[in-house]
Order: sequence, then C-alpha cells, then structure tokens
Amino acid sequence: MVGGNVSASDDLVRAFNVGIPALDRDFLRTWHRVSTVVHRRIPADDLNYGGAAGFAPLREAIAAHIGPSRGVRCRPDQIIITSGAQQAMALVAQLLLDPGDRVIFEEPGYHLARCAFAAAGGAIVPTPVGDEGLQVPAGMAARVAYVTPSHQYPLGVRMTARRRVQLLEWAERTSAWIVEDDYDSEFRYGSRMLPALQGADRAGRVVHVGTFSKVLFPAIRLGYVVVPPALVEPFARAQLVNGGRPPVLEQATLAELIARGHYARHLAKRRRRYANLRGVLTSLIRSRLSAHMTVMGDDTGLHLVGRLGPEVDDRAVADRARKAGLSVPPLSIYYAGVPAIFGLVMGYAHLSERSIAAGVAKLAAILDELAAGPAR
Ligand SMILES: Cc1ncc(COP(=O)(O)O)c(C=O)c1O
Repeated sequence: MVGGNVSASDDLVRAFNVGIPALDRDFLRTWHRVSTVVHRRIPADDLNYGGAAGFAPLREAIAAHIGPSRGVRCRPDQIIITSGAQQAMALVAQLLLDPGDRVIFEEPGYHLARCAFAAAGGAIVPTPVGDEGLQVPAGMAARVAYVTPSHQYPLGVRMTARRRVQLLEWAERTSAWIVEDDYDSEFRYGSRMLPALQGADRAGRVVHVGTFSKVLFPAIRLGYVVVPPALVEPFARAQLVNGGRPPVLEQATLAELIARGHYARHLAKRRRRYANLRGVLTSLIRSRLSAHMTVMGDDTGLHLVGRLGPEVDDRAVADRARKAGLSVPPLSIYYAGVPAIFGLVMGYAHLSERSIAAGVAKLAAILDELAAGPAR
C-alpha cells in the first residue's frame, strides 16, 4: 500500500515513472458499486450497436464537465468517445491528413502522437518549444499543428496568451487544424485554471483531445475528441468503420459517476494529493540535487522535468538510474532531432513521500558520482 487507500504494483511504484496516476481503491469501490446499479438497470436498447460517436449520456456528462473545468465550449454532439487519447490521435491523423501533408509538431514532444501523425503519412516538422510554448515559423504552411498548450509534454511550460492568439490566427488564416492534446491539465496546483485553447477558437479550427487515463487510470481506455460541427459526421463514421468504439457498459458507468459528482470529488481529492507530492519532490530537488538540476515547468500535471547541465549525458544518467531501480526517462529521447537541452522527466503522482525521498537520494548519489568521475 502506498499512502493509505492508494495502492500500486511494484512496477508502478518505481520512481519516477512518467504519466501514471495513483490508483485510488476508494474510487474503484465506488466504480464497482455504481457499475452494479448501471448493469442492473441498463435498457436493452442501449446494449445494441448504438451511436458511433459514443454513449449519449457520457457525451452529455463530458460536455457539462469540460465547460466549467476546462473552458471548452461545445455541445454534447460535438464529442466523439474514443479508446483513450491515443486512439483519438490516430483518428484525427487519419481524417485530417493526406499523405505528405505537413504537421507542425512540438520539439521535444509526445512521441506516440508523433507516431500517429507519421503513420497517417504526415510530414513531421519538429518545431522548438521555448519558454512561451510553440511558435509557428513565419510563413510556414501546414495542415495540422499538434500542441499541448496547458502543460507542454514533456517540458511542462504553458503556452502564453500571446502565442495562443498567434496560433489561432495562423490556423484561421491558413485553414490549418490545431490539435490540442489536453492530457493532464485538470491537475493545476498553484495558479488558476488555464482555459483550453478550444474555448478561444472562434473560427472552428481546434480539435480538442481529452483522456480519463490521468484522472482515473490508464487501463480505462476512455477518452474523447471535441470537433467542430462539420467534422462530427466524418469522425463518427470513421469510428464505426475502424471499430474503435469503447464498450458501452464502461461508458455508462463513467457517465453515471460524472453525473453524480463522484468524478469531480475524486479529482479534487487527487489534486490536493498531487499538489502535496509535487511540493515534496520540488523541495527535495532543491535541497538535494540543486548542484545538478533545476526544476522546469508549470505547476501542473503528473510530472516535472529536472533540467541537467549541457555537459551531462542524460541517457547515461537514466541508464545508471535504471540499474539502481529507478525509471527516469531522459529528456533527449523526446526530441525527433538534436536535443537542445538535457534533463530527466520525473513522474510523482503514483508515489508515496517515502518513495520520492528514496528516489531522490539514489539520484543524488548517481549524479554526485558521475560529476566526480573521469571525463564522460
Ligand atoms: C501528452 C500525452 N498525450 C496523450 C497521452 C495518452 O493518453 P491515453 O492513455 O488516453 O491514450 C499521454 C499519455 O501518457 C500523454 O502523455
């Protein structure tokens, strides 16, 4: 057991695996209770093939939730339920791209989304993410720009208001699509909620992708894509043809959990817990690792980046860490091209305070040893 009601397998406890939420046994018990009622009462009609865009009550519950919590403006019928964000990304790539179309992609960026666009024939244009988020190069035309504006993956920066306006104007001017991956931004700690880009889109150029993997657990494989009205039909048809629709009983249970407020309560509880864990990790990095790394990124999400000096080979550090039982992906693996900075990507949400402290102590020993050793 890790932290009271939160448990995880040994593998998940491994510091500092990235992007894994804590598994909350209390919430699973609620899930079990609600699903029993849902299974007992579900009308036979709901167990037929149903709508290709997903279970209507779940689309309604999501629309009601992401309006106030994420500033997304949509009607329920603009939401297509998917098997997680990754399947949404594959669908988006399949529908929005023709082979050879350019895709402006964050550099460094989320490799699996990059793979989805590349698999659909997209020509990836790695585009540097600075302190203000991605900036489309002047005069660049592309079919799609993929961004994580609320919490850039992996660097953790948030896109500034200025860059958001520039990006939206660019998409409108060039008839490009912006794919907004909003994977973990419901976990914002210090500052006020940062609305999704979709809410500021007046021209209908943003496709917004969300997931339940980070608030609940990755194996739930439920996510959604919010599309402009003109894209609803093609997306629903593609879901039908691809067979990507998630099981209705899971969708019905989740709809009920959201509608009854269990989901919002769970989220609030997790948010408090993760804010605390983030605080523990950042203060330990400052006290034990400040000679080697600085904390990058905004006060959001389930991970942070410990930035290393330019002379440090982050892959070598990650390799040593793996041998010591830690999992800290090197920042350099998230680059499609030559890495601009080096660091370690560190998840904390699934860990106990004790595991974080033990992980930092191991990392301190490794970094001290590497710094003291012969030329690398
Ligand atoms: C940036 C980003 N987008 C999307 C996902 C995928 O989410 P899902 O589990 O819903 O496929 C992840 C998962 O780690 C992620 O880090």
